[in-house]
Amino acid sequence: MCKMKKIDINIFKEDILNTIRDPILVLDSDLKVIYVNSSFYDKFKLTPDEIDNKYVCELGNGEWDIPELRKLLEEIIHTKTSFHDFKFQHVFSNIGKRIMLINAKVLDGGRDEKFIVATLEDVTEKTKLMEASLQANKLAVIGQLSSGIAHGLSSPLTGIYNFLDAYFKEEPEGTIRHHELKLMLDACTYMNNIVKNLSLFARTTTDEFKKISLADVIDSTLSFTERQFIASNIFFAKDIPDEIKKIKGNKSQLQHVLLNILMNSKEAITAGGEIIIKARNSDNSVILEITDNGKGIPKQDLPHLFEPFFTTKDESGTGLGLAAAYGIVKNHRGEIKVESEEGKGTRVIITLPFAE
Ligand SMILES: Nc1ncnc2c1ncn2[C@@H]1O[C@H](COP(=O)(O)OP(=O)(O)O)[C@@H](O)[C@H]1O
Ligand SMILES: [Mg+2]
Repeated sequence: MCKMKKIDINIFKEDILNTIRDPILVLDSDLKVIYVNSSFYDKFKLTPDEIDNKYVCELGNGEWDIPELRKLLEEIIHTKTSFHDFKFQHVFSNIGKRIMLINAKVLDGGRDEKFIVATLEDVTEKTKLMEASLQANKLAVIGQLSSGIAHGLSSPLTGIYNFLDAYFKEEPEGTIRHHELKLMLDACTYMNNIVKNLSLFARTTTDEFKKISLADVIDSTLSFTERQFIASNIFFAKDIPDEIKKIKGNKSQLQHVLLNILMNSKEAITAGGEIIIKARNSDNSVILEITDNGKGIPKQDLPHLFEPFFTTKDESGTGLGLAAAYGIVKNHRGEIKVESEEGKGTRVIITLPFAE
């Protein structure tokens, strides 16, 4: 066993607390702040003036008045206990939206004095990474399933279509059979479209990739859709600088991505609006942003947008637009994400690496 030298730790306690990277907060039994370490000042960008002699709920101009947290603190003071890993999300005016984890314990200071020592941990990045990895795993599993379905249905469907098409061509126009065969052919086309989108999502397509310009993808997509948007009172604003670097990709797949996103914006804008298409170069990729001022997306829907068949539209939606867009962008070694606020609008952000 190693022998520890006996020293008076009290001499160093302030220095020790200040070497700890996580913010530490000490409160008295009235929840008044009696100590914070230097990480606390750094993390929350507060000055001693803004902390000294303040109650916890007064910190940051009342920003720390979080009812659930106050209830927990009052409870442990009362019961002389502790709580572990209380997670809360809060928007702090100095540091923005953060997810914090708090652990707190009541210490007995003697003579009926009690203190709460609380340590805080900023788990924003960790939580986001974990959620992103869960999301990617989930989509990878659905991808495997979709790939199996698409592969299994593709050839029989082509077979049925070809037979029906042959019968259809032999049948004189105007007969009931002609009409029925037409309906069956349309149903096959519809199913084929589902299969195609599923294989785009599952990344099992083998289309050719070339050095292409994103400006060209955008212009060509707009040229065949702009008119129907203007007819619905939706106008485009474009900001695509000439210096946008080329990417390596498949033009028709990327047109499909853009079209799916634009159609979603169109369907989200009810009484006229605007779609802004912006592109810029970042360190090693082009970033494309498509922003609409439509109805936005409820928070609870955001984690499901890229799942095949997730739709909030009744008859009109297949729920394959964003799933196919996700598969295509991933196949281009890019990233796609959606930011949205209900009632304000939606922004789709696509990152595609420069062609070498
Ligand atoms: N720009 C947008 N504004 C509002 N909601 C959107 C937008 N883009 C996508 N969504 C939501 O995401 C869902 C999935 O979109 P998508 O995969 O294209 O399928 P679909 O359009 O067939 O429903 C939509 O049903 C809608 O709820
Ligand atoms: Mg859609």
